[in-house]
Amino acid sequence: MTFPIRPRTTSDLPGVGELLTATHHSHAYPVILLEDMAAWGAGTGVLEAWVAVDPADGRVVGHVSLAEAEPDDAATLQWQDVTGLPLHQLGVVRRLVVHERAQGHGTGTELLATTVAAAHRRGLRPVLDMADNLAAAGRLYERAGFEHIGAYDLDLTEYLRPGDEGYARDGEITHHLHVLTWIGPEPPA
Ligand SMILES: CC(C)(COP(=O)(O)OP(=O)(O)OC[C@H]1O[C@@H](n2cnc3c(N)ncnc32)[C@H](O)[C@@H]1OP(=O)(O)O)[C@@H](O)C(=O)NCCC(=O)NCCS
Repeated sequence: MTFPIRPRTTSDLPGVGELLTATHHSHAYPVILLEDMAAWGAGTGVLEAWVAVDPADGRVVGHVSLAEAEPDDAATLQWQDVTGLPLHQLGVVRRLVVHERAQGHGTGTELLATTVAAAHRRGLRPVLDMADNLAAAGRLYERAGFEHIGAYDLDLTEYLRPGDEGYARDGEITHHLHVLTWIGPEPPA
């Protein structure tokens, strides 16, 4: 049974912040412990966003958003290079998370499918990037027909905060991310 998914509202944002704080500690996603996790979860340039909610207690256990691509950033340049598409035809899948206790029931798959369908309805090519430590996410993207096209490095050391845990890479805890870029299935003609 997947957890029910519905469009995100403003009143969900504190719960989204709590969820992202939990996944920072459980999965190093996001890799930096941000001061205002709800604001980071809210995102910028968001076109649509969804939450999965536990019917037992109403808590937000999953989240994803579809956002505009940011001009000239490293990922956008790779997405554009490979797809040949202008910025406004890309839809970025961001902040896909499912709480540890809700994982393995198909909710992540369903959140991603919801986002891809919304991107396609808008005529957008879904794209995304992810740090290379997130193996389960990579498997999910592959199953959904996404293709790994490139990578770039991102040093987040200057954003470190007390309590920040970093992530393990090459046997060391680091805040220097190796980020993988992916493109998703084309929208139907
Ligand atoms: C990636 C993530 C969102 C997946 O969420 P999820 O809800 O566990 O995803 P699913 O349940 O759809 O799939 C997870 C696994 O359960 C399996 N599964 C799905 N439905 C299932 C079911 N009904 N019964 C048994 N297994 C099932 C899937 O095949 C998958 O197996 P795999 O890990 O061997 O590939 C979650 O692990 C997460 O939040 N990770 C940390 C944050 C992260 O990496 N985010 C991506 C940012 S780019």
